[in-house]
Amino acid sequence: MTVAPERMDLPYTPEVAAATDHLYASIAKTVTRAEWELYAPYVARIQTLKRERNAVVLAHHYQTQEIYRCVADIVGDSLALAQAAAATDADTIVMCGVHFMAETAKLLSPNKTVLLPDLEAGCSLADSITAADIRALRARHPGAPVVTYVNTSAAVKAESDVCCTSANAVAVVESLGVPKVIFLPDEYLAAYVASKTKVEIVTWKGHCEVHEKFTADEIRELRTMHAGIAVLAHPECPPDVCAEADFVGSTTAMLDYIKGAKPARVAMITECSMAGNLVDAFPEIEFMQPCNLCPHMRRITLPKILRALETMSPQIEIDPAVAAPARRAVERMTQIRRDGAAAA
Ligand code: 13P
Ligand code: SF4
Repeated sequence: MTVAPERMDLPYTPEVAAATDHLYASIAKTVTRAEWELYAPYVARIQTLKRERNAVVLAHHYQTQEIYRCVADIVGDSLALAQAAAATDADTIVMCGVHFMAETAKLLSPNKTVLLPDLEAGCSLADSITAADIRALRARHPGAPVVTYVNTSAAVKAESDVCCTSANAVAVVESLGVPKVIFLPDEYLAAYVASKTKVEIVTWKGHCEVHEKFTADEIRELRTMHAGIAVLAHPECPPDVCAEADFVGSTTAMLDYIKGAKPARVAMITECSMAGNLVDAFPEIEFMQPCNLCPHMRRITLPKILRALETMSPQIEIDPAVAAPARRAVERMTQIRRDGAAAA
């Protein structure tokens, strides 16, 4: 899927420069002055509208730098964004992420306006499973609770006992105190969880179209080319990729690893915008990796964020009959502590 480039034609004026110059410093290493003069008028207008609308912008680690560093109020992984959505006292949440993240925000803040700048920002994992599939799995495994990755639709969450993210998946599975769990839809995250627990895991054939592209050969090649490189992999990667990594964890767990271990060279085996967002913050670290981009995350752009705040659309709405059980599954997750992710 390709996303058509957008026209960015708001003028770069002295007023815009005065309002935004301090933000440019945070991305100056990787964004040219010419690019910045296209972004800055949007950044300035978005900042003004955020105040006028009492809006908060939440951005996932996979968003582009001009969004992540210059308009987001809170950045994080799927779990952190869900927690932030539940805690904010803003009237409006703008989700710079994908559809399931905006739905999760709406489930946790039903009385707030939740805007997703592009409703087409989907996810291959969310598309891989339906509510009917879960009912069929339950019939095949009577009594086994269903743990559902947040990368799913509200209708799928509504059929689940509890949700999880990659940051707390093992903790959620173990919190149930049962010998067998249906864990879906990510086959590879399920394999990672199975490697960390004695609980029997029944899974599904869903994959992240970004993480499934990484190969163990690529990692071995990286190690040959860059001696001493720390390889951090997301658990949505295939099991042979995770097995080659020094550390496996959610996007925030990878960030915490970097902050703690301060490796000289890092390969983050995940969506490559994440490393781009860290380059300026960690100038002493060399980031290198194969670059796989999520086309859904890329749908969110400054012009679309601005349009969303101007028009207060597109808004996320969830059928109340679906929202109530889906909310229960998400809230049950938020009551279980993040496990911090374990070393591979
Ligand atoms: P986390 O940020 O929860 O690690 O998830 C990664 C991802 O692929 C989200 O779409
Ligand atoms: Fe979905 Fe993968 Fe994109 Fe995350 S990176 S939104 S899991 S397709």
